[in-house]
Amino acid sequence: MTPVPVAVLVSGGGTNLLALLDALRDSPAARVARVIASRADARALERARRAGVPTAVLTDPEDPAELVTATGDARLVVLAGYLKRIPAAAVARLRWRVINIHPALLPAFGGPGMYGRRVHEAVLASGAALSGATVHYVDEEYDRGPIIAQWPVPVRPDDTADTLAARVLQVEHRLLPQVVEALARLGVPERPVRLSWRGSAFVTGDNLAVDLDSAADGRTGGRADR
Ligand code: GRF
Repeated sequence: MTPVPVAVLVSGGGTNLLALLDALRDSPAARVARVIASRADARALERARRAGVPTAVLTDPEDPAELVTATGDARLVVLAGYLKRIPAAAVARLRWRVINIHPALLPAFGGPGMYGRRVHEAVLASGAALSGATVHYVDEEYDRGPIIAQWPVPVRPDDTADTLAARVLQVEHRLLPQVVEALARLGVPERPVRLSWRGSAFVTGDNLAVDLDSAADGRTGGRADR
């Protein structure tokens, strides 16, 4: 199996990028082929260079042609802390091949302006008992594309935005590589796929069956069956 080339789009720190680089280093299914930043000072670029992965900085993130060209031969495009909107023409060109990770359980606590600390502040202000991480397809609207997989994280009574953010981020680092590997093993299907928890593995299916016990204790196999 030739690993599916993956492009990772970043704007900031790049801890999800690091998680992908680590998890996919020896993966037969997928490999990080290039890292593309919306800004030259994104710390993620340094992390990519250290890992020997080719990098690019977009001169105009609004330009769909530049974005599509930058993704090169990547079959899957992963937004990992990428803060710019993907232009509609690029979404259309890369339909069902661009995914994003969001630090809450969408469709709640998403949309324009909902990024970083603000997400966790809004979760705490709402009194929700659960937050989590969501990986979803990117479409023309912020945080609205079909959900691929979610991993719940309990909100603790003494949580601050920072403690909740840190706990969600740990889960992001496990969820994202597994989703990327699962989609790669499925051949990056040309239709939306939903991965659900069943026992210790992700399986595809129409019902989102979240097994809180297995999700919470982190037993994840990354297996994907059609
Ligand atoms: C993550 O919380 C991700 O969900 C959100 O932006 C953050 C990026 O963090 N989209 P990092 O740059 O991967 O450290």
